[in-house]
Amino acid sequence: MSAEQPSALGLGQRITVQTLRAMATRSERIVMTTAYDATFARMLEEGGADALLVGDSLGMVVQGLDTTLPVTLDEMIYHARAVSRGSRRAHLIGDMPFMSYQVSAEHALRNAGRFLAEGNMHAVKLEGGIEMAETIRRIVGAGIPVMGHVGLTPQSVHAMGGFKLQGKDQDDAERVLQDAKAVAEAGAYAVVLEGIPAPLAARITKQLSIPTVGIGAGAECDGQVLVCYDLLGLSAERVPRFVKEYETFYTRGVAAVRAYAEDVRAGRFPAAEHSFGMPAGAATHPEVASENLGEPVH
Ligand code: KIV
Repeated sequence: MSAEQPSALGLGQRITVQTLRAMATRSERIVMTTAYDATFARMLEEGGADALLVGDSLGMVVQGLDTTLPVTLDEMIYHARAVSRGSRRAHLIGDMPFMSYQVSAEHALRNAGRFLAEGNMHAVKLEGGIEMAETIRRIVGAGIPVMGHVGLTPQSVHAMGGFKLQGKDQDDAERVLQDAKAVAEAGAYAVVLEGIPAPLAARITKQLSIPTVGIGAGAECDGQVLVCYDLLGLSAERVPRFVKEYETFYTRGVAAVRAYAEDVRAGRFPAAEHSFGMPAGAATHPEVASENLGEPVH
């Protein structure tokens, strides 16, 4: 199915699970970024993102946390709704936060449903491999598309001893491969491969029948995902080596605010074109002025 084909479900020009699968089959790379609000969703989509992930990374880049662990489902759904309002075309994925899917498959299904019913998402993503297969099966069985996530799984940061590259030796590489296979066999429509060596990601991509989306996993995946704050250079801190910053919005933002602050302090802002005037005599007769509010001074 192509992105241009209208859907019988009224999804219009929307990129769907089927579109992504077809893209991978045609060896057309899938472009995915995270998004956390309506304005960014509009900008990222206009820039050509096929899929937008409302990632729990928002805990770190929006909320200023050290890990994604404290992010709640209600917070995720709030951001999902905002993203959906700014989006017309992209496939939208809600990231299931820590403890919203690990307790039981039933609990996971109920929470996954909230992303579609309340957050207007088209799919959910959850972290984990073999141990999550039954949960993925249950959610997919209820008609909710699931994107898997294996390799470096940030919600297991304490178990991994930090945000560390996974699959470095032969045994660990085999574990990551088996995790990816389990996720695909359980019915996931795609899988994120995070923080693994490029040759391992290439091997997994070759062996799976579903698209792989890489982050810190080399160039041989079917698609790539980056945290939008990283790709736009919105972070004040140093970004990991696998990130390419395509802009320097943080630095440019600081410069813009400095210019604003200087203008305010020097009395240059607001200028006449940013101010509203009053007709002659209105200053002493407020009822005349109220009729003219909104008229800029020219
Ligand atoms: O939360 C997130 O942003 C993610 C991506 C890094 C894949 O899970």
